[in-house]
Amino acid sequence: MMKKSLLSFSLIASISILSTGCDQKPKENKPQDNSPITVNLTDNKEPKTKVLDPLATKAIEIGLKSIPEDLNELNKLIDNKNNPLNQAKIELGKMLYFEPRLSKSNLISCNSCHNLATGGDDDISSATGHKWTANPHHLNSPTVYNAVFASRQFWDGRDPDLEKQAQGPILAGPEMASTKEKVIDTIKSMPEYVSRFKEAFGNDEVTYEKATMAIGAFERTLVTPSRFDNFLNGDATGLSAEERKGLQTFIDKGCSTCHNGYALGGSMQPFPAVGKYKYANVGDFKGDANGLVKVPTLRNIMETAPYFHNGATWDLNEAVKIMGQTQLGIELTDSEVASIVAFLGSLTGEKPLIKYPVLPASTSTTPKPNLN
Ligand code: HEC
Ligand code: HEC
Repeated sequence: MMKKSLLSFSLIASISILSTGCDQKPKENKPQDNSPITVNLTDNKEPKTKVLDPLATKAIEIGLKSIPEDLNELNKLIDNKNNPLNQAKIELGKMLYFEPRLSKSNLISCNSCHNLATGGDDDISSATGHKWTANPHHLNSPTVYNAVFASRQFWDGRDPDLEKQAQGPILAGPEMASTKEKVIDTIKSMPEYVSRFKEAFGNDEVTYEKATMAIGAFERTLVTPSRFDNFLNGDATGLSAEERKGLQTFIDKGCSTCHNGYALGGSMQPFPAVGKYKYANVGDFKGDANGLVKVPTLRNIMETAPYFHNGATWDLNEAVKIMGQTQLGIELTDSEVASIVAFLGSLTGEKPLIKYPVLPASTSTTPKPNLN
């Protein structure tokens, strides 16, 4: 059990991770240089008296939410009481996220399919893992960025949180094809990992669940505030005229009835709801038992093509047009589509600065790769 004092320490530790990890006031979607981002909370606070733009007020009223600028508030939002964040756990989770030796082949890590350099996904239609095996249902890898804000994980929403979710892919045949024993033997074979488990969890017992809890803790920090958040937080210049028009259209047409909350997605909704999906024949996924599908986040959507559960289109304009047909029963005009897509561009966020981890060297007892 963690003592109360330790708990508050760990909260502060994770706040400091976040404060170096993400710039709370992104100005433009420009590629970052690699100088560390420093955040000065007091400098960044907008004056409390700031009058919100009417469109921002409207967006907030209908359920769109900005990623909190206040790091305490953000930390509370991303934390999991069953897996409290602390810096050692986040760092261990990052190492395991990039650790290919958890897989049967020693070649595939979480980052193979959820590449943090390419939008948190893999940029192919059907996820491809062990022995070059494509997902049997032709499922597309969702992004891990901002996945913490979703109420369910997976396209059919079968898991409640990131910790539970992470238990799946390591063992899944077409993904990492490993076993719990291989994961535990691999970690235990490298003393540095064992001591990091002790730091993260308070004792050095290595279990499969703890490994996935650490990975989940790391994923919780993968949030990407964007110009859209600045706009909702009172910076009226956060969005261009075209993007504002697009946000208005997004609200007026009803996109925000499903794409709302912090992720502009994350709940379970019918798909297709009212019209036929023209790519329904690609793969055999039909949603959960009630035909509901996890609404994907629209944050960083410019970076996460191809789109839909089966990765059937690479064209964001087409994806938006299809949403009009399948979810709202309307034909969006080309100019409505263009303006919505312009708005979606404002959701490209600042990525947390991630220092690529150097992993401990294998020892004589580290399990060897098995490519079969
Ligand atoms: C071979 C590619 C592949 C690998 C490796 C992989 N994933 Fe995934 N991931 C997927 C696919 C495909 C889905 C969607 C599957 C489904 O819905 O049934 C998914 C779903 C997810 C989701 C749910 C996101 C959402 O929006 O619902 C998270 C989070 C995630 N993976 C994290 C991880 C972690 C952590 C690891 C490493 C332990 C990992 N993945 C390894 C392909 C992969
Ligand atoms: C009734 C709920 C609902 C409405 C309304 C809705 N969507 Fe969606 N949206 C979904 C679901 C569910 C999916 C995932 C469908 C799938 O891939 O199986 C989705 C997928 C998407 C995708 C693809 C995301 C990705 O990563 O693959 C985009 C883009 C999108 N929606 C934009 C919009 C826009 C723009 C509107 C308004 C014109 C809209 N949606 C209206 C529920 C909805």
